[in-house]
Amino acid sequence: MSSDIYKDIILDYYRNPRNFGDLANADVRAKDSNPLCGDIIEMQLKINDGKIDDVRFKGKGCAISQASASMLTEVIKGKSLDDVKAMGKSNVLELMGIDPGPTRIKCALLGLKVVKLAVYGYLGQAITEEVKQLV
Ligand code: FES
Repeated sequence: MSSDIYKDIILDYYRNPRNFGDLANADVRAKDSNPLCGDIIEMQLKINDGKIDDVRFKGKGCAISQASASMLTEVIKGKSLDDVKAMGKSNVLELMGIDPGPTRIKCALLGLKVVKLAVYGYLGQAITEEVKQLV
């Protein structure tokens, strides 16, 4: 696909975010911001038997941060917590279909960082350096 199509898809997720809102019975919530711009993502997860049963996100910010977070919610539903912990930059780039460049990559990785903060928080595990350095 051409990068124009990917840009259209990103804009569509930004304007019509999937899995946006609150999850009333969430087991864990996490929130973080991009220190460069202040944009925010919050993730809420329902976890069952070591897997992500349901997820919602809320946020405020640029098209890349909001669209990538929304895309991520679709992909992580049904995944095991270990699979989510193993996700990295390449997974997010694959989802977006474009490389947003060295500055905007932080926008793209904010959602993944917050999902990981939620998973580590749920498991009661210390946040790794890898997670801290995502954004
Ligand atoms: Fe703030 Fe993109 S400009 S996350």
